[in-house]
Amino acid sequence: MTPQQNATAQRLFACEDIHLDLGGREILHGISLEVNRGEVLGIIGPNGAGKTSLFEVLSGRIQPKSGRVVYEGRDITRLPLHARARLGIGRTFQTPVVPDELTVGETFKAARQAFLPYLTRFDAEYGAELVHFKVAPDVPTVKLETLNRRKLLLACLLMRRPKLLLMDEPAAGLINSEVDEIDYLIRLLSKEMNITVVIVEHRIELLETIADRVMVMDAGETISQGSMAEVLNDPKVHAAYFENVVEGALDE
Ligand SMILES: Nc1ncnc2c1ncn2[C@@H]1O[C@H](COP(=O)(O)OP(=O)(O)OP(=O)(O)O)[C@@H](O)[C@H]1O
Ligand SMILES: [Mg+2]
Repeated sequence: MTPQQNATAQRLFACEDIHLDLGGREILHGISLEVNRGEVLGIIGPNGAGKTSLFEVLSGRIQPKSGRVVYEGRDITRLPLHARARLGIGRTFQTPVVPDELTVGETFKAARQAFLPYLTRFDAEYGAELVHFKVAPDVPTVKLETLNRRKLLLACLLMRRPKLLLMDEPAAGLINSEVDEIDYLIRLLSKEMNITVVIVEHRIELLETIADRVMVMDAGETISQGSMAEVLNDPKVHAAYFENVVEGALDE
């Protein structure tokens, strides 16, 4: 295998020069990223930088104005969300919205039957065990605390054995001891199971331990990339945070 072929085999996912318009203005101004199999790419940036909007494009919920999304060497830019899910792309949301009317057991069943092939109870148990979700099936999902909501939704994704997880602030709303669980879990998924993870997260201390590389967004652009130490030392990153509302976020 030539170095070029090897690099192509290692690459699972990429986007190239993504431009996105929302509400009549351009929100993303040419974002590109690449991620290899089993790698964890962290994305940080001040509020409103465009991180969630980028995830909308990467997951297929919103079409970009221009640019490409590439998965396993294939251009998937025009594939809708459900088609990307079938290919092994899972996405978690900043706010863990669980089905209002369903119990935990009904939620697992709905996830098993979300699309063909329908999965078995064993698949659902596999997902629940991976994330250490231990809530009884008859509990209404609305009764769950944030951590268990996040775990339930993640278990529903993991039962499909995704190759890529796009995680939007998985530690939002959690206390420190719960963040440790998320930290452990993401490590397990990436290092033991070779799942590729792109994670948006404000908690620097979480990304510091799990991310192989970090990219920093501000105002719809990538302003810095590298190790966490490198980006934290980048004057452009400091300027972006201090010129925005989240003053001091990097010093926590
Ligand atoms: N549906 C929409 N219509 C118009 N503008 C939008 C829409 N969604 C997001 N925006 C704008 O796009 C910009 C980027 O928002 P986005 O939610 O992607 O930022 P973010 O980096 O995820 O921020 P946060 O850290 O607060 O989650 C913001 O200015 C936001 O107001
Ligand atoms: Mg966001």
